[in-house]
Amino acid sequence: MRKALSRAASPPVPDAGGVLPAIRFGAIRHAYPTRDGGEVLALDGIDLTVRRGEFVALVGPSGCGKSTLLRLLAGLEKPTRGMVEVEGLTPDAAGEMVGLVFQKPTLLDWLTVERNILLPVRIRRGRPGPADVAAARQLMAMTGIAGFAQRHPSELSGGMQQRAAICRALIQDPEVLLMDEPFGALDALTREEMCFELLRLWSERRKTILFVTHSIPEAVLLADRVVVMAPRPGRIAAEIVVDLPRPRGLGTMADPAFQSATQRIRELIYGDAARAAATATTL
Ligand SMILES: Nc1ncnc2c1ncn2[C@@H]1O[C@H](COP(=O)(O)OP(=O)(O)O)[C@@H](O)[C@H]1O
Ligand SMILES: [Mg+2]
Repeated sequence: MRKALSRAASPPVPDAGGVLPAIRFGAIRHAYPTRDGGEVLALDGIDLTVRRGEFVALVGPSGCGKSTLLRLLAGLEKPTRGMVEVEGLTPDAAGEMVGLVFQKPTLLDWLTVERNILLPVRIRRGRPGPADVAAARQLMAMTGIAGFAQRHPSELSGGMQQRAAICRALIQDPEVLLMDEPFGALDALTREEMCFELLRLWSERRKTILFVTHSIPEAVLLADRVVVMAPRPGRIAAEIVVDLPRPRGLGTMADPAFQSATQRIRELIYGDAARAAATATTL
């Protein structure tokens, strides 16, 4: 414990190239109060550093604190104990440097798609200028929804709405993109398509991405590193580096290294049951 606390107090360490980490959690503990006056320990002993430009996926069973980690980074929640930093700043100071995408697109139906995308600009700085509108249009073109700028969200499919939500998260050109099961509500085909779109976007813009998903194959397909969490209390159980070549595509999923990475993560999450099931299905 003493060691963990002293680490939390230490200054961020640049990597060999002198670059500061994009995200840093040090000895995080987070408890939520319960109605009966008790508390739920959502996270305990979390140490995690994400490099600038890295794509990290968080997986683990429900309730292991994945969303809480993102909420701490977004400044929506203050940790009970420990240190959270985004680009060397507190989450409050980082503000516009962080973009958020949730499972539900949460667009406002009385605004057009373009106005929804420009909403963060309007909230922070007032009326969007021509440069903001140009940025919104570029994002819409990049995500394939340019033709829907003047439509209302209810006229769009779920996948299109989620593309709009991604544009809204990117409108202020954040350094860090936090995505909480962003494709969880989409059908399997759209979901796969969105994964490839996101990879393309990431390779063009090189944001740091922290991506929560329930899908192990999705995590392996997307990420440089998969962080496996365990519940009660939420903690990091393992980290798996995914060194599959990029750009990744449909062929990636047929790669034996892809299969072995997904299987390894399954075993880490489900333990022996997963190993037994895998053996049973190969017989
Ligand atoms: N606002 C809250 N109030 C009380 N408990 C909460 C709150 N948010 C989350 N929790 C609890 O904290 C734990 C972690 O939740 P969460 O971060 O949402 O996990 P995950 O996203 O991995 O499913 C769970 O036990 C959950 O019930
Ligand atoms: Mg969650």
